[in-house]
Order: sequence, then structure tokens, then C-alpha cells
Amino acid sequence: MSIDDMKKRAAEAALAYVEDNTVVGVGTGSTVNHFIDALARIKHRVEGVVSSSEASTQRLKACKIPVLDLNAVGPLPLYVDGADEANRQLQLIKGGGGALTREKIVAAASDKFVCIADQSKLVDVLGHFPLPVEVIPMARSHVGRELLKRGGQPVLRERFVTDNGNLILDVYNLHMLEPAKLEAELNNIAGVVTVGIFALRPADVLLLGTADGVQTLQP
Ligand code: 5RP
Repeated sequence: MSIDDMKKRAAEAALAYVEDNTVVGVGTGSTVNHFIDALARIKHRVEGVVSSSEASTQRLKACKIPVLDLNAVGPLPLYVDGADEANRQLQLIKGGGGALTREKIVAAASDKFVCIADQSKLVDVLGHFPLPVEVIPMARSHVGRELLKRGGQPVLRERFVTDNGNLILDVYNLHMLEPAKLEAELNNIAGVVTVGIFALRPADVLLLGTADGVQTLQP
């Protein structure tokens, strides 16, 4: 079975968490694209969605699923999104697609965060995947120096601008033994918009697509 089939399995399993007549938060990425396609089949049952990126918005609109403004709908019962890495506490690294800031906002505004991923995303310790950090353009060098001081190797993501008009530094070699502490510390560097560690608000459920079916993990 291919990795993409495993992503699709996890995405399909997330439909069980969607309640009738509610607004669903929708993340970004190839796993979420499968979720959007699945959601399209039951779109008459939901009021609409809040999207975490321009890319997801385009796909949702193509599926004729109403995309609503987070400010107009208040807290959401459910957010479904993928991850680049997840540990067994359901702390995540996200932002491989560069949508981390809006993803973190929608996750924060949701009661339940269901993370969908293929089995390759589960790790013992976060940090093998380079950590995406969204930065204000004028702060790029300053933030880079601060990350170097902490042992990271920041690399500017070439030819990439986020939906918010900012840059992404992908940071290699960070030790993430205490992800929540590191998230808070990096968030505090002036010029950092969002760091791709989701540990202060981890996922509540991880649906892991495997060759044998879907595994449900809870912390
Ligand atoms: C985008 C993300 C994605 O959830 C993450 O990159 C996983 O992507 P995929 O489902 O394509 O493996 O954080 O910013």
C-alpha cells in the first residue's frame, strides 16, 4: 500500500468526527486534500468550513463547500489537519506546506483537533523534520542569528511567501526534548510570527493510516 493510500485512509476516518450542522476547521496539505474530497460527499450535512490556507480554500470552493470567516463563526467543535511529525503525546511539527500560522489559529479556536497522517509521521522524538518558522521579512537575519545561538541551522525557504506575506526559515538540528518549552521560547523571538511546533496546543486525536487499517492514538 502506498503512503498516499495510508493518508487517504486516515482522512476518510476523520469523517466520523464531523457532527451534523456544524462548521469544521480544515487544515492544509496532501492528507487534508483527501479529507476535503471526503467532506465533499457529506457537504449537505455541514454548515460550512473555516479554511487554514488559500490552497485549501481553492480546493474547498471547487468542491462547492461554503468557506466561512473564523471571526463570523466563533469557536469550532472540530479541526482536522495533517502533520509533518507527531509524537505519542500528540505534539506535532507542522508547516511543511507553509500554512502554520493560520493552522495554529484555527487549531487554537477549536475544541477538538483531529490530526490525520500516514504511519511514517509517528516519531519517538520530534525534530528530524526541519522546523518551519514563519518570520516577518525585515526580521529574517535577526531571527536566523537567534536560532543559530540555540543550536539550530536555519535555511530560508527559497521562492516562498506565506499567505500572510511572510518568509519561512526551515530550522535543522534543533533538540526537541521539551517541545512545549521550545515552542514558547522560539515564539518569543522578536520577528517570529509562528513556530511550527504544536505542543502547547497538541492534537487531541491522531488517526494514523497504516497498511493494516487506521490506528487511533490519544495522549
Ligand atoms: C502544512 C502542514 C501539513 O499538515 C503538513 O505539511 C503535512 O502535509 P501532508 O499531509 O502533505 O503530508 O502542516 O503547513
